[in-house]
Amino acid sequence: MATVVPGVALSSGDDLITIPVIGMGTSSSPPAGHEATKAAIIEAIRAGYRHFDTASMYRTEQPLGEAIAEALRLGLIKSREELYICSKLWCSSAEKELIVPEIKMSLRNLQLDYLDMYLIHWPLKLSEEVHQMPVKKEHIFPLDIKSVWEGMEECKNLGLTKAIGVSNFSSKHLEELLSTANIPPAVNQVEMNPLWQQKKLREFCKAKGIHVIAYSPLGASNTKWGDNRVLECDVLQDIAKAKGKTTAQISLRWLYEQGVSSVPKSFNKERMRQNLDIFNWSLTEEESNKISQLPQRKGITFASVFGPHDWLLELDAEDI
Ligand SMILES: NC(=O)c1ccc[n+]([C@@H]2O[C@H](COP(=O)([O-])OP(=O)(O)OC[C@H]3O[C@@H](n4cnc5c(N)ncnc54)[C@H](OP(=O)(O)O)[C@@H]3O)[C@@H](O)[C@H]2O)c1
Repeated sequence: MATVVPGVALSSGDDLITIPVIGMGTSSSPPAGHEATKAAIIEAIRAGYRHFDTASMYRTEQPLGEAIAEALRLGLIKSREELYICSKLWCSSAEKELIVPEIKMSLRNLQLDYLDMYLIHWPLKLSEEVHQMPVKKEHIFPLDIKSVWEGMEECKNLGLTKAIGVSNFSSKHLEELLSTANIPPAVNQVEMNPLWQQKKLREFCKAKGIHVIAYSPLGASNTKWGDNRVLECDVLQDIAKAKGKTTAQISLRWLYEQGVSSVPKSFNKERMRQNLDIFNWSLTEEESNKISQLPQRKGITFASVFGPHDWLLELDAEDI
């Protein structure tokens, strides 16, 4: 039986969109490969996933597009409108005149006419010669937020995406964006889980009407950018044991109860279903209090992704 995932309604300009509160992440480490990614996405659609998170950087747009076409052929979904598809603008194309061609490339990869959400992947600009991480400091620049956002707004105005948003933006980046935006960002996708709760950034986003989407909601276990400290956290494990749930489910339920959406990645048939099975039970107040007191540590930083350059270390040190 497929799970029906609840949705949250958001506005972007004049459009209203609904985001299923749990989506499937499609970035895997090490990369799962085209056919395995496609097969996992078809399995996810069978299980009830209707929200998929991709990016040009992940190289999963093509298998996602093929999986959607196959799901339509198999009758797993009746139309593309049943899905919420998010992709992201990579930093080497973060220049106003490159953005429309870039989203059109993503749409070709996905075999789609429009995206539901297009995000600025990081508030950084990379020179085009960059093909791998970390990046030499001469190839990395601060983002020209005003002009890049104008390019994002053009994508929406042309009907290439229903909504636009950002990822990895601090409240400072958001303030700058909001000071010139005609269309405010609908979402900010950031790292969030019980061990990196983003309390201040969430309060800021709430006050500005920006929906938060949690990436690495399970701490990105067994990936090159994450570790097992969420899934191996004693407090979460104890709560899981007492409730007959898994630690992953406790983390995802906690995120849901904080009012954020999340995009866990699992390409495993049982675990992807387990990650959707969080809607017909809840955490007690005592359990939530215990989780809110967990010591905090950011997992993914500008420096860990792009290189330990001085101004990136300063960005990481800024208070949200
Ligand atoms: N905007 C950004 O900059 C950004 C950055 C990072 C990630 N993301 C997005 O967020 C998505 C998810 O984040 P993530 O991949 O970093 O980390 P994650 O979803 O927190 O963790 C993924 C890892 O957890 C394992 N897993 C999944 N469900 C599990 C369960 N129930 N029990 C035990 N292990 C489980 C997965 O393995 P199996 O597949 O074997 O189950 C995989 O190794 C990505 O795929 C991507 O779409 C965005």
